[in-house]
Amino acid sequence: MTTTAKDVAADLIPIFVMGKRYFVPDSLTIMKAMEHAGYQFIRGCGCRGGVCGACSTVYRKAGDYKIYTGLACQTVVEPNMYLAQIPFFPALRSPYDYAEAKPSADTVYELYPEVFRCVACNACTKVCPMDVEVMDYIAAIKQGDLAKASQLSFDCIQCGLCASRCMGELPQYHIAQLARRLYAGKLAPRAAHLKDVVDSIVAGKFTPVLKDAKALDGEALRKAYTEREMEPAMADESWRPESDYGL
Ligand code: FES
Repeated sequence: MTTTAKDVAADLIPIFVMGKRYFVPDSLTIMKAMEHAGYQFIRGCGCRGGVCGACSTVYRKAGDYKIYTGLACQTVVEPNMYLAQIPFFPALRSPYDYAEAKPSADTVYELYPEVFRCVACNACTKVCPMDVEVMDYIAAIKQGDLAKASQLSFDCIQCGLCASRCMGELPQYHIAQLARRLYAGKLAPRAAHLKDVVDSIVAGKFTPVLKDAKALDGEALRKAYTEREMEPAMADESWRPESDYGL
């Protein structure tokens, strides 16, 4: 069956962007619908894959009191959605010298004393598009557990929606980032295999391979890249690379 112009038109729905109505295909994400409506993203758009956190959006639905939030690149439009982009939510990041920063919760408390303003309302967790347990990682920081806070906040994409809904006015995502940096860089045990690889690089193990690669022309380099040994598409824990350069 062929698609007629009438069919296509039937799939158009009204949405409101900054108060102005547009008709857009109902299968589009907010980001694509806005582009369909003629908007061009200069900021507030990055990976388009739900990873970079650049495209926070707030919206209301007709007849619904709630304010909804999401990522514009992941959320599909709905009829009569009223939406606005908030590509950046102002949240202060306290400056610090990482090399000098002590890896303890006290460092977080000194830089972000507002962490104790958290009233455990859980609005931050509810708004998170990545389902991060935001309130729980803030609680872990208040308990001095940077390891737990790092693990709980690992999927954060820094979109800032948590801060936009916080009645304690915490910049949660900056606080968690500091906790992860302190823990991962200064507290977590070093990975032995990573040290082996770094030592190999420093010892020049890959220098000949890199030299050969740099000597290739563009086409040969593309061929070598596409034909390189790759991990199987389906997870296979027993897989080991054949060409590990002796690591
Ligand atoms: S554009 Fe990167 S998360 Fe949406």
